[in-house]
Amino acid sequence: MRIALREAQKGVGRTAPNPPVGAVIVKNGKCLSAGWHRSAGCPHAEVEAVKNLQCPELARGADLYVTLEPCSTQGRTPPCTELILRSGFRRVFIGTVDPNPLHAGRGLRILRQGGIEVYDGICEAECKILLRPFAKFITSRRPWVISKAAMTLDGSLTLPQANGRWLSSEKSLKAAAKIRSECDAILVGANTLRIDNPRLTIRRGGSERAPLRVVMAGARSKLPKNAELFTDKWSGRTVVFHGQSPAQVLDTLGSRDVMTLLIEGGGETHAAFVGEGLVDEVAIFLTPWISGGGVPAIGGGQEKPFFEKTGNWRFTVTESRFTRYGDDILCRGLLAHNIDT
Ligand SMILES: NC(=O)c1ccc[n+]([C@@H]2O[C@H](COP(=O)([O-])OP(=O)(O)OC[C@H]3O[C@@H](n4cnc5c(N)ncnc54)[C@H](OP(=O)(O)O)[C@@H]3O)[C@@H](O)[C@H]2O)c1
Repeated sequence: MRIALREAQKGVGRTAPNPPVGAVIVKNGKCLSAGWHRSAGCPHAEVEAVKNLQCPELARGADLYVTLEPCSTQGRTPPCTELILRSGFRRVFIGTVDPNPLHAGRGLRILRQGGIEVYDGICEAECKILLRPFAKFITSRRPWVISKAAMTLDGSLTLPQANGRWLSSEKSLKAAAKIRSECDAILVGANTLRIDNPRLTIRRGGSERAPLRVVMAGARSKLPKNAELFTDKWSGRTVVFHGQSPAQVLDTLGSRDVMTLLIEGGGETHAAFVGEGLVDEVAIFLTPWISGGGVPAIGGGQEKPFFEKTGNWRFTVTESRFTRYGDDILCRGLLAHNIDT
């Protein structure tokens, strides 16, 4: 299942509105093949694993490991349960059941009725973590929201004296690029567009691709027409929301099959989403600078302090990771929030 999880990981950020899934075929203690779901409309992981066998007959009597319960309905591709039954697998090991309430458990029942031994809950916690964005999306039709920022030790997004200098180390920038690559859309506020003129593309291993690029702007605000987002070769992948609330933005992005949304700032934009309890996960790179001013990481240049407007928010980090990148520390965790009255 750990190999299947590594396979599934390859699809993260590419499969929306489908989940990333990995599968492995094992016989007599030997791993015969593996597969992963590449993108919506492409074959599912189980199909890829069978295709990758030297010959399909090898599946007869073999074990299949798959990170998510196999699908049992006809979608853009035929149900995987049929392929599994037809191929003659002896046992199927499943990471976690489908979080879609319309499907949950159905695939398992069909396989059992077909005479296959089915075991579920294998490496379940890891499989569920991988499926978090899909689980939220399929039950709420809103994307999983990650707020990402590089911040000074005194909580600022910028160094007033440093003229646009990056806060974070080379290693952090690479880690940030990996987080980007796991998301379907990246959102920034109008000021960040004006000041940083970002490209918001995913640049990895010598290639570059564009997720959906989203800008939040005021109802009548003007944006620079010559910004990268409006003029580069992916300008068709840029969406501007004028005068919309964060919740409205999430609803619209959900209807466009955005499963994971990355908010990259600035401070006012983070505050708008955090303040309404709409952020699921944070990724903050803490950098070894003291700004003594600059744009607050959560709050931005608003007239009133953020907490005065929204009340005090208390976050419980329910799951967290602290990783060192050069001189920076990435704090990545989930937020369970309550208003502290
Ligand atoms: N260190 C980092 O990780 C990082 C990342 C990104 C940005 N930055 C820096 O952060 C600074 C910009 O941050 P900022 O806080 O001033 O601005 P921001 O969050 O980038 O943009 C805020 C602006 O977005 C528009 N907007 C529209 N709807 C909104 C809503 N519901 N909530 C919030 N904003 C909404 C408004 O502009 P209009 O009314 O004018 O349209 C608002 O003034 C820049 O200096 C940039 O370099 C740093």
